[in-house]
Amino acid sequence: MKNILIIGSTGQIGSELTMLLRKNYTGNVVAGYIPGAEPKGELKESGPSAIVDITNSQQIADAVTKYQVDTIYNLAALLSAVAENKPQLAWKIGLGGLFNTLEVAREKNCAVFTPSSIGSFGPGTPKDKTPQDTIQRPKTMYGVTKVSGELLSDYYFTRFGVDTRSVRFPGLISYVTPPGGGTTDYAVDIYYSAAKGEKFVCPIAAGTYMDMMYMPDALRAAIEIMEADPARLVHRNSFNIASMSFEPETIYQNIRKYVPGFEMEYQVDPLRQAIADSWPNSLDDTCAREEWDWKPEYDLEAMTKDMLAKLKQRFAH
Ligand code: SER
Repeated sequence: MKNILIIGSTGQIGSELTMLLRKNYTGNVVAGYIPGAEPKGELKESGPSAIVDITNSQQIADAVTKYQVDTIYNLAALLSAVAENKPQLAWKIGLGGLFNTLEVAREKNCAVFTPSSIGSFGPGTPKDKTPQDTIQRPKTMYGVTKVSGELLSDYYFTRFGVDTRSVRFPGLISYVTPPGGGTTDYAVDIYYSAAKGEKFVCPIAAGTYMDMMYMPDALRAAIEIMEADPARLVHRNSFNIASMSFEPETIYQNIRKYVPGFEMEYQVDPLRQAIADSWPNSLDDTCAREEWDWKPEYDLEAMTKDMLAKLKQRFAH
């Protein structure tokens, strides 16, 4: 049995991960949230929740004590484009928040999962089949917090024995909770436009490859890494994981197979484009496959079918 606290439970990943954790585990699965982003509906009804602002250590500690938490999923973050506009806040949440979480974990003996990202790489990183261990000199505040977070998490493991683990998520695609302010968000928005029968205006230029992943694979990765046999883990913070890499034309053509009249035009957003250009085209996830048997289930074809079916169902009501 695990007792789990999810910090950021109402966000893009948290809203789905919390529900899946409640399905998989019989212990307390506590939805941590900040005022203004309260859990609603099934998320609220299906288990306990608590106000946990990651910038407030006491709130983290109180929730951990009250619910005898042994595992923390730290999902509080600003996505890349927002972080570029609010770098001070991005640091406060991304790094200050992680420090608070790790300190509580050290004192109360909790394991900690904190996602890293393809954004932890930068223009000096090999772009294709980016290795697990390579140059990480990102130019964005989002990336700076992610690399620093990887280092800090590894430090807490080697210095204090805190069981920290992480994966580098690609752009995550889902029909449930939309992302806000990420560079990879276009690959979610394009499905919404297609399902609504609207033209899509693409903010990322043709030919820009980025790694992407369907949410069910990402959620499984977050759970499997925390369940992995620690004796097999050579790495911890953080593992490359991958399932598909594409550019706007590829996903557009794929959607057109199911929505033949679908139209797209480009209006490139310079901020997002600069961020995308500094990120890898595709990651090499061999270490994750070898050390904890990571394997994706969805490719672009399977994801497109499922996304369009689910969104069309929603918009039909
Ligand atoms: N999806 C994130 C972003 O675009 C990348 O990890 O900011």
